[in-house]
Amino acid sequence: MSTIADEAARRRTFAIISHPDAGKTTLTENLLLAGGAIRAAGEVAARGEARRTRSDWMKIERDRGISVSASVMTFEFENLVFNLLDTPGHEDFSEDTYRTLTAADCAVMVLDAAKGIEPQTLKLFEVCRLRDIPIVTFINKMDREALEPIALLDEVQERLQLDTSPLYWPAASGQRFAGVVDLAQNQFIQFERRPGEPPKIGAAPRIGADEATLKANLDESVFGELTEGMEMATGLLPEFDVEAFRGGHMTPVVFGSALRHFGVAELLRTLQLYAPAPRDQKAERKGEAITVHAGDSAVSGFVFKIQANMDPNHRDRVAFLRLCSGEFRRGMRLKTAGGKQLNIHNPLMFLAQDREIAETAYAGDVIGVPNHGQLRVGDSLSESGEIQFAGIPNFAPELLRRARVKDPMKAKHLRKALESLAEEGVTQLFKPSIGSDMIVGAVGQLQFEVMSERVAAEYGLDVVFEPAPYNVARWLSSDDPKLLEAFLDRNKAASGTDLDEAPVYLAKNAWDVGYAQEKNPDIRFTATKERAL
Ligand code: G4P
Repeated sequence: MSTIADEAARRRTFAIISHPDAGKTTLTENLLLAGGAIRAAGEVAARGEARRTRSDWMKIERDRGISVSASVMTFEFENLVFNLLDTPGHEDFSEDTYRTLTAADCAVMVLDAAKGIEPQTLKLFEVCRLRDIPIVTFINKMDREALEPIALLDEVQERLQLDTSPLYWPAASGQRFAGVVDLAQNQFIQFERRPGEPPKIGAAPRIGADEATLKANLDESVFGELTEGMEMATGLLPEFDVEAFRGGHMTPVVFGSALRHFGVAELLRTLQLYAPAPRDQKAERKGEAITVHAGDSAVSGFVFKIQANMDPNHRDRVAFLRLCSGEFRRGMRLKTAGGKQLNIHNPLMFLAQDREIAETAYAGDVIGVPNHGQLRVGDSLSESGEIQFAGIPNFAPELLRRARVKDPMKAKHLRKALESLAEEGVTQLFKPSIGSDMIVGAVGQLQFEVMSERVAAEYGLDVVFEPAPYNVARWLSSDDPKLLEAFLDRNKAASGTDLDEAPVYLAKNAWDVGYAQEKNPDIRFTATKERAL
């Protein structure tokens, strides 16, 4: 019988971060193949299609070739349970990605070998750094002309302030790409360009990496480049140190080609060897700071994402709950720190193939909790209802728009629709103190387009997003509630509340915010809101 601690210890929960087009989708599919979760290439896409047919609001997603909704893929590989958290690739959904990363214990950073670090990689990396999430680097597309490997690693070191330690070293790239040296095993893994059958992941032939064997098997110029590169790498770069990796200071590097099924087994092996088991989580219990350990027996977890209307006919919501401790059993009753109770009869496990009913789950696992809107992003659930994990912040939106429904009789319906979409946490809904405007905030323009589509498809309403009288929103707080109340009274025309009735300052521009701040030093104007503990 395995104990709760043993079960937790065999979980590996990770996310893949990358700039669009670096190869995240291709790599995901190949990792699932390598892990035995799916059988043939193309099945992730097929599964995606099935999901899209189920919820056709994802039309916009299909049209634009972006993945808006995050999902979780679970697979078991050599006695470890991997939970791969999918993150949206488009930068307008970066907040969603941020939250998903709060549920990951490790990240794989995919770089395009010809491009190195790109803007979105940098942003996502910063999120990982905030939470000290250890990162494995996968340098993809080695089958295309690449930058010098040493230059790529230099860039990671320079721009991310992260020590790099290659576990493999590539022999040339593009047409001349010949394979990689497995530095720990001192073997050379050959890249074969076979027409016809796609190569099996992890089946690439291995030969000795001694000078004579390499010389006999490689082009002279490739051999020269390889030995020179390896000399530099082993001379200049630090040896892999698992503690430095787990602390978020060093990244092991794997080179490959996701499209050609090369290097993926090596990446999975790297995760298997080094990715951390579910981390301890900081929390509060009755106002006291505590640490929740993955092996603790009482069940606890936090909601990092809400998906509304997965099934448009049922107005259901699925809250994605990352478990932090205990053995969750189907039918269990959990409570939020705010006192709400939920009987979880039909939890969902997101196995690679499809959604399935979960019987048990442990720290590191993610379960989908169907509910009718009781749960919010950042909520903590536990058996006692006394545990609250450190907050998942809300970010002030970059864009504000006034929402209007074409048929004025339907204004109430629109408010309901916007409220339930805002509950997902991707967009925000503000209510000015004066008037009945509905002000919607989002990170990017694309979110308004997605919202219009969804409001039409899921609620049958024709919504227009027009310029709002405000462009900036800031949450307001003060140590002295009276001062805050007085400020709100004086500033009725420039204030309102968010979905949770928290006071916000609504301003024309950043200058106004600065001015108000200067005049009211006792009031805090914040661009992020942590859910109250
Ligand atoms: P993303 O999710 O990060 O946005 O990237 P995705 O996997 O969709 O890959 C982006 C493009 O890069 C795709 O080409 C994909 O085939 C290609 N790609 C991914 N990995 C490799 C690799 O290792 N080598 C090479 N040469 N290409 C790779 P596309 O033309 O945009 O799409 P498709 O028509 O091939 O699907």
